[in-house]
Amino acid sequence: MASANLFHFFAAILSILFPTAFTATVVEDLNNLKPPPDFNSTITKNCRTNPSIRYCNSTPFDLHEIFKSTIVASHLCNVSNNPNCVESFPKIDLHGQPKIAPLYLSFTFFWKYCPLTVLSIDLSNNSLKSNFPTDIFHCSQIQGLDLSHNNLSGDVPVQNFTLLENLTFLNLSYNDFSESKISETHFFERFNSSSFIHSGVLPNHKEFKIKAVLLLVGFPVFVIVMVVFWGWLCFTHRKVHKFTPAVIKAATDGFSKQNLVGKTGQISIYKGVLKDGSEVKIEICFNNITRENRKRFVEQSKVVVQLHHKNIAPVLGWCYSSRFRATVTKWIDGESVETWLSTSNPPWKQRVKVILGIAAGICYLHEEWPEVGYNLKTKDILLSENVEPLITRFKLDDNHSSLKKMYKFGVFILEIVTTRRAVEELEKDDTSFLEWVKLHYPENLENVIDERMKKNADIVSHAVEVVKFGLMCTDLSNSRQPSWDTIYAVLSNISSTAGISSSTDHRKSSTDRGRVHKHVHHI
Ligand SMILES: *[C@@H]1O[C@H](CO)[C@@H](O)[C@H](O)[C@H]1NC(C)=O
Ligand SMILES: *[C@@H]1O[C@H](CO)[C@@H](O)[C@H](O)[C@H]1NC(C)=O
Ligand SMILES: *[C@@H]1O[C@H](CO)[C@@H](O)[C@H](O)[C@H]1NC(C)=O
Ligand SMILES: *[C@@H]1O[C@H](CO)[C@@H](O)[C@H](O)[C@H]1NC(C)=O
Ligand SMILES: *[C@@H]1O[C@H](CO)[C@@H](O)[C@H](O)[C@H]1NC(C)=O
Ligand SMILES: *[C@@H]1O[C@H](CO)[C@@H](O)[C@H](O)[C@H]1NC(C)=O
Ligand SMILES: *[C@@H]1O[C@H](CO)[C@@H](O)[C@H](O)[C@H]1NC(C)=O
Ligand SMILES: *[C@@H]1O[C@H](CO)[C@@H](O)[C@H](O)[C@H]1NC(C)=O
Repeated sequence: MASANLFHFFAAILSILFPTAFTATVVEDLNNLKPPPDFNSTITKNCRTNPSIRYCNSTPFDLHEIFKSTIVASHLCNVSNNPNCVESFPKIDLHGQPKIAPLYLSFTFFWKYCPLTVLSIDLSNNSLKSNFPTDIFHCSQIQGLDLSHNNLSGDVPVQNFTLLENLTFLNLSYNDFSESKISETHFFERFNSSSFIHSGVLPNHKEFKIKAVLLLVGFPVFVIVMVVFWGWLCFTHRKVHKFTPAVIKAATDGFSKQNLVGKTGQISIYKGVLKDGSEVKIEICFNNITRENRKRFVEQSKVVVQLHHKNIAPVLGWCYSSRFRATVTKWIDGESVETWLSTSNPPWKQRVKVILGIAAGICYLHEEWPEVGYNLKTKDILLSENVEPLITRFKLDDNHSSLKKMYKFGVFILEIVTTRRAVEELEKDDTSFLEWVKLHYPENLENVIDERMKKNADIVSHAVEVVKFGLMCTDLSNSRQPSWDTIYAVLSNISSTAGISSSTDHRKSSTDRGRVHKHVHHI
């Protein structure tokens, strides 16, 4: 064999030059060493017989470097206790030789021409204090590499390990490698954790594992959660706000006559039951509506479903089809204020409570939803259990001025106190009603108070105050109209002197939308 011949060739020289292990002076000697004159022809001959020898690839030959590496190889083979350094050099074993191991590692020229016969490198337990000895990567044919029990630090050059394609054994345990920058997943697939015990690399491996787990498990879970969340959102959104015609049809039992509870103008009012068992009022207009009107209807509905106040009937949603449009409201088991006034002759306390409730609802709308108009006709105000009045009709494109709104509230107040309802709908009837009240102003206002109502002197004086107040609100002639906040304050005061526990601070409810409370003086 050529390499065997080569070693044989140098065996004689080596025994003369290096009787013992390398020393500093030996390294100097090595540098001063000149290849013999026939060295060129020797290695040329070697390469001709065995072209796989590493130095054969480097042309032209750097004779000096090749010569030195051959000497080092020969010596290292001996130091590594290889069975027959002349015939074979299968391993580099510098295990537990901290004095000479760093020296051999410094011979870059050696590693560059590292004999292909070397299949295993063991540099363990040598107190090596350096970065990863990257020269080792020149011995790309190796199958085993043990660098354990050293003080190696810095990054492990993970990318370079792809050069060592036949490497099956690796031990980097007990070193001080830095934890960072190890993200090469392939590297960790080749070697398991026992290769990295206390190497500094292991924690990063764990981190990588965690990342992998997060990625492999966490991401799908995240996706599922998001899908479920959005699904839920869409579902509830639909369920609460936009109803399909099929749902409306099912809820009203196919628009059955039994479910039809009223009719005003073009609007049919049905009592319905939704799938979840909740009772609803469904107001349906069966007219063909223009695209424009439908758009307005949806816009209005989208606003109205957002109103949340204890004195506002909760609108649950809307529906439209080519045949109809419908508004779905929570069903309220209760009579209208109109019926209540005329049939049950309510006591003064309850009347004040109703006025105050409506005032609270109005204040909420003015503060939070100034664009929403409302209807204060006593037949459209419902009383829920516990005599809580609810505004049930809204109009988005309400053009009424605040003056007009206040006027209507004044009329409402007067109606509650007097139970005298002028014929509905027409404004001139409001006017005649007001004329009648004003007839008794200012001396005989107690005469307009509902005569059926039980009253003492206190109630009469309070009622007279409220009537005066109502008249003030209806006064369109001058700007004596108070602000809504003032109205609320005055009414609260009256109610507390009337002995009504007023939990009806409209401000508390008006923060429902999370807005910062702002005083409304623009009315
Ligand atoms: C080595 O020998 C070859 C011919 O065998 C020659 O071409 C080359 O120049 C020589 N190199 C040196 C450095 O003398
Ligand atoms: C190897 O080293 C031993 C001493 O450790 C020596 O006796 C022997 O001759 C050396 N062999 C070669 C081939 O250099
Ligand atoms: C490391 O080498 C020292 C001698 O330098 C020896 O005492 C020790 O047992 C060795 N440890 C291992 C783990 O090989
Ligand atoms: C390795 O370094 C640590 C401190 O970083 C030191 O305690 C230890 O003795 C060193 N080991 C060797 C063998 O030099
Ligand atoms: C790895 O082993 C295969 C088969 O023994 C060989 O052909 C290949 O050259 C080796 N790779 C290296 C880098 O030595
Ligand atoms: C190791 O990898 C780095 C970057 O990937 C490269 O620059 C360097 O030459 C490689 N080292 C060896 C010995 O191949
Ligand atoms: C690591 O791999 C080696 C073989 O390469 C095997 O003997 C050992 O049991 C493995 N250890 C673990 C923890 O998987
Ligand atoms: C690496 O060396 C450590 C300490 O000597 C040992 O515990 C571990 O099992 C070795 N790993 C492998 C893969 O042989």
